[in-house]
Amino acid sequence: MTDYSQFAEPHSEEDRLVRRIDLERLPRHIAVIMDGNGRWARERRLPRVAGHRSGISAVRETVEMCARLGVDVLTLYAFSQENWKRPPAEVTTLMSLLREYVRKELDTLLKNDIRFSVIGHLEDLPASAQRELGRAVEKTSANKGLQFNIALSYGGRTEIVDACRALLRENVDPDEVTTEMFAGKLYTAGQPDPDLLIRTSGELRISNFLLWQIAYAEIWVTETLWPDFRRAHLFEAVIDFQRRERRYGGLSRGKEKDPVVVRS
Ligand code: FPP
Repeated sequence: MTDYSQFAEPHSEEDRLVRRIDLERLPRHIAVIMDGNGRWARERRLPRVAGHRSGISAVRETVEMCARLGVDVLTLYAFSQENWKRPPAEVTTLMSLLREYVRKELDTLLKNDIRFSVIGHLEDLPASAQRELGRAVEKTSANKGLQFNIALSYGGRTEIVDACRALLRENVDPDEVTTEMFAGKLYTAGQPDPDLLIRTSGELRISNFLLWQIAYAEIWVTETLWPDFRRAHLFEAVIDFQRRERRYGGLSRGKEKDPVVVRS
């Protein structure tokens, strides 16, 4: 029998929500566009970086809950290639928050059997951040639980171009290229595609995130700003996901045949 106390305080609102989830039909891969840190800070008349700092608690809770639920892969969009255009002080703070997060959370990642990895152009990051992230990737590499990807200096179009380059370097015959072969050259090679894409703060955009992989993802958008995102929101997203009918371009069950028209 499932021990629900690992997910939420018994009889709490979260407990009520998590019991509505069918744990046998979880999304295998959840991808998240964490948005709204700046707005969260502005609403409190705080500097933008206070929003990023506060967003770390949401990261921690989401990672831990996905691991406990038994989700296979979680990918968080932490820093896009376009984010380099932000003011240098904001970029520097984000990089040091990342370092701090990885340093503080490594034990928790290990304890929860979480395998950590980075997708994107890690080489664009400051050397100190590369070192800290690389250490966490290495130390967690044998873990078998949740695969936790952080997208850093990531761009979906660049990822596709990188995959093309990799294929061309191998002199693959153009007529031999298949979608499976192409997917095998993406940063997420070997991982299932996201079934559920969550975006916080209400924007209805994809923002160059996992462009290839989200072809059939179910999208769930909440007005909640990222620093306020908690397990209850994650549970709501999964409940909503499980209500959707995924057709992958096919027809609904029971509608495969045309109705029989009786002509008189
Ligand atoms: C978007 O909010 C958020 C980001 C660009 C950064 C997300 C980073 C964190 C939550 C902290 C570090 C992450 C990890 C994984 C440790 P925004 O600034 O675009 O918000 P706005 O749209 O309201 O301005």
